[in-house]
Amino acid sequence: MNSKPRVLLTESVFPEVSELLEKHTRLDIGKRGTYNTEDSLCDAIGEYDGLLSMLSNPITHKVIEHAKKLKIVANHAVGYNNIDVEACEKAGIRVANTPDVLTDATADGTLALMLATVRHIPSSQEFLRRGDFDGWHPTSFMGPELKECTLGIIGMGRIGMAVAKRCRAFGMNILYHNRSRIDRETEQMLGAKYTADPLSIAQECDIITLHCPLTHETRHLVDKNFLDAMKPDAFLINAARGPVVDEAALARALHAQQIAGAGIDVFEKEPEIHPDLLSAPGAVLIPHITSATYSTRKSMGMLAAGAILNELCGMDHSCNFVV
Ligand code: DGY
Repeated sequence: MNSKPRVLLTESVFPEVSELLEKHTRLDIGKRGTYNTEDSLCDAIGEYDGLLSMLSNPITHKVIEHAKKLKIVANHAVGYNNIDVEACEKAGIRVANTPDVLTDATADGTLALMLATVRHIPSSQEFLRRGDFDGWHPTSFMGPELKECTLGIIGMGRIGMAVAKRCRAFGMNILYHNRSRIDRETEQMLGAKYTADPLSIAQECDIITLHCPLTHETRHLVDKNFLDAMKPDAFLINAARGPVVDEAALARALHAQQIAGAGIDVFEKEPEIHPDLLSAPGAVLIPHITSATYSTRKSMGMLAAGAILNELCGMDHSCNFVV
């Protein structure tokens, strides 16, 4: 009888990651999308000792009830709002995530999205490809100068800080809101001023970027009220989690040209996108890719696999446990 623990990897990752798991476990690899529903996970999970999940897999209370042998869920993401951590904890199942290794890639990706949005890169490219470029004009596709902008960061954790460092290099003025104020020395190093009131970020900032986790408190933090308080020439960037923004309200604000634009990497009901957002002027929409660099995605996989091997095989890989 094979005594290796059984592990479900819900979709293909870097080959090095699955090769490592295959050496020490009996690994099943799901087909992309198969485990994006509660029912499919409930049907499968009873067989497994370990689960390497994606952020698109809903590891709900019901899934945990079906998890008769499960000892660990390692999420291939830093955010773990797709997992009912409390249910896991109650069932004695450990939960791991992949912090740190994606900080720089996500911050770089956020800057790419921010610059593309405020400098109209996708729409100007479409214009050119359509054959509408008839030469240089002094007033075409203008955007704000970053060094003249106040940046509002909501969520000053690792990624928020990495974004702040980059934006400081662009000469931006920085205001931030976080669950708790960060230490004064780091504030000074980042040149960032704290506000306890997220609405003052809406009122005062030219570009607002979201980097908070999705929790009960942050769900629809950017709602109609927040959008109404934003300046008409301001931009919103979201590379955190879709439900932090009320997507329908954002689409309405963009169609009404009540704000200048939005760069959005994450959506409320991924992979669905609100149809009015798809057609909204000033919206730059990308498919949840701000952390997508080769080394980051490989390191994320290795960290998640490490947690599984440590828990099921008593190994000593680097990893991060949430509970
Ligand atoms: C995460 O890890 O939470 C990111 O959203 C993946 O890019």
